Amino acid sequence: MHQKLPKNFLFGSATSAHQIEGGNFDSDWYAWEKKGLTADKYTSHPAANSWNLWQKDIELLKETNQNAYRLSIEWAKIEPEEGNFSQEAIEHYRKIFEVLKKSNITVMATLHHFTIPLWLAKKGGFANKKSISYFTRYALKMIGEYKNLVDLWATFNEPKVLILKGYIQGEWPPCQRNFYQAIQVWKNLKNAHISAYLAGKKITKKPIGIVENISAYEKANNSVLTNLAVRIARFFDTTIFIKPIIKYSDFLGINYYMKFIIDGFGHYMPKNAPKNDFGWSINQEGLHQVIMENSIYAKPIYITENGIADNKDKFRSQFIADALTNIQKAIADGADVRGYFYWSLLDNFEWAAGYSQKFGLFTIDRKIKQSAKDYAELIKKSKTD
Ligand code: BGC
Repeated sequence: MHQKLPKNFLFGSATSAHQIEGGNFDSDWYAWEKKGLTADKYTSHPAANSWNLWQKDIELLKETNQNAYRLSIEWAKIEPEEGNFSQEAIEHYRKIFEVLKKSNITVMATLHHFTIPLWLAKKGGFANKKSISYFTRYALKMIGEYKNLVDLWATFNEPKVLILKGYIQGEWPPCQRNFYQAIQVWKNLKNAHISAYLAGKKITKKPIGIVENISAYEKANNSVLTNLAVRIARFFDTTIFIKPIIKYSDFLGINYYMKFIIDGFGHYMPKNAPKNDFGWSINQEGLHQVIMENSIYAKPIYITENGIADNKDKFRSQFIADALTNIQKAIADGADVRGYFYWSLLDNFEWAAGYSQKFGLFTIDRKIKQSAKDYAELIKKSKTD
C-alpha cells in the first residue's frame, strides 16, 4: 500500500449464515440441495459448522487483526414457521453480536443472503407481493432485538444475482426461467427494501443500506455499437438496481468480483489476466472503476465482498493487497469508502458449486492460510505506519 487508509477504516471479512452455519433445514435452499443438485452433491449441512463454532470464528478475526465482520442472520432459523419467531435462534445471534461487540469488532448484519424460509417459498417467495410485509416484519424484529449490538444493517445481498440465478437462468431455487416473474420479484425486493428501511429508521439511528453485485466494464473499441452496449450493460447491471432505492439507503455495499470487455454486443472477460478456480479473470483495477462510477450516488461505500476462488492460495495475498491499493486510489480521487470485507473468512458452502470452490482466508477446519497472515500484516501496517 502506498499510503495509509483512513484511521477508522474497517478491515474485515464476510460470510453468510447458510454458507457457514449448517443446520438450515427449514430453508428453500436445503430442500433443493437434498435432491442432490449441487456440483459435488453435498448439502449445506454441516458447512463450516459455525452454528457451534462461532466463537472460534471470532477468534480467527482477532488473530488476523480484523476490526469488522459482515455476517448474515438466517431468516429460516429465526422464523421457521410463519409468524413464530424462535427465541432460541434470537438468543443465539445475540450471543454472537455481544462477543463481537466486546471484541471491538464492527458488525454489519445482512438480513437476507439468498435463502428464505420454506413456508415462504411455498407461498411463492419474493414473487408473492406479501413477501414485502413478511420481510418487513422479520427485519423490524431483528433491528429491534439487536439495535444496540449491530452497527450497520444490510437488507438484501445482491438482489440482481438472486433474480438472475433464480428466475432467469433457473440455476438456483426456485429454478424458474420466467422473465415476467423476474420483474415481479425485482419490484417486490425493491419495495421490501424500502419498507424495511422506513420501518427500521423509526427504531434505530444505525445506518441501513443494501448490498449490490457490481461488475466493471471496459470498451474493446470506440464503435457506436460498443458505446451503446456499455450503456445498456451498466443500466441493467447497476442503474435499475440502485437508482430506485438509493434514496432509502444510508450506504451502498458493493460486491466486486468481475470485469468484462464489451465488444459490440458481445462481451468476454479480459484474456491477458490470470484466472481464478472459477475461471473468472482477476482484475482488481476494476474495483477502482466501480467505486468511482458509483460515487455519483453520494453515499458512503463499503466493499462488502471481494473474493477469489483459489484452492492453492496462490493469488489471494496479492488480490487483497491490490484491492486495498485500488481503494486507496479511489479515496484519493474523492470517493467515500469506509471499509473492505474480504469474501470470505472461511472456505464454505459455495451454493450450486458445493464445497468445490474455496474463497476462505481459513480452511473449513479453521487452518490459517498464508494469505490470512499477509492480510493481518497489511492491516497492522496500515494501523501503525
Ligand atoms: C455471494 C456469495 C458467494 C460469492 C462467491 C457473491 O455473489 O454474495 O454468497 O459465495 O459471490 O461466488
